[in-house]
Amino acid sequence: MGRKLVAGNWKMNGTNADLKEIEALGIAWAAPRVDIVICPPATLLSRMAFSLGGQPIRVGGQDCHAKESGAHTGDISAEMLKDAGARYVILGHSERRADHGESDAMVRAKAEAAHKAGLTAIICLGESLAQREAGETLDVVGGQLAASLPDGATAANTVVAYEPIWAIGTGKVPSLEQIAEVHGALRAGLKERFGEDAEGIRLLYGGSVKPDNAAEIFGVENVDGALVGGASLKSTDFSPIISALESSL
Ligand code: PGA
Repeated sequence: MGRKLVAGNWKMNGTNADLKEIEALGIAWAAPRVDIVICPPATLLSRMAFSLGGQPIRVGGQDCHAKESGAHTGDISAEMLKDAGARYVILGHSERRADHGESDAMVRAKAEAAHKAGLTAIICLGESLAQREAGETLDVVGGQLAASLPDGATAANTVVAYEPIWAIGTGKVPSLEQIAEVHGALRAGLKERFGEDAEGIRLLYGGSVKPDNAAEIFGVENVDGALVGGASLKSTDFSPIISALESSL
């Protein structure tokens, strides 16, 4: 198992003025015992990578195109993210699946591109409220896991984030039992496909992770960290979440 991981997803938030948050994190976490990644909007990526310099906090993209280059107005390739200083890229976030019609097959192709560029893909999946209420959660996330991960997925190049859509940005969080059930099923699905190596693929929980609920979520079996949206924007919210993960070690 690699180190536990906290990833912050800034979504479509942040301008140059917010780089001070990263500077504060860099000072607070000069020698963390967990991996820390911030995924800012693409406009801030290279400045953020530059300002972190040789510090241990990594930066990542929020999406990439499946192709290396070409006539794709508005898109960014995995190579370009790498060139800008990224080490990670979030793929298949539910907001991209919903707003941009991204299918599992597209997510898988993007993950292959990310791996080829040397990026670690954070592949997101999760059920809607209607699917949860219909008792379809394990089928839905199992299907997304099978179809969104490429065959070349390893513990080094892939992280899976379970993000129930109804928990994102809502302040609602599944029960610890519900998180344990899904993470256990994901771990079993990974093992079935990738063998014992799958033990090392980190499984993040995402959806309304906050300083006051992080510790209990990190205590759940097969939870190897978190993907954090709103609470990653301010270092004063994000730092206690990192502390909670360190305390769980
Ligand atoms: P949230 O977002 O922490 O604001 O709920 C999580 C995510 O979308 O990754």
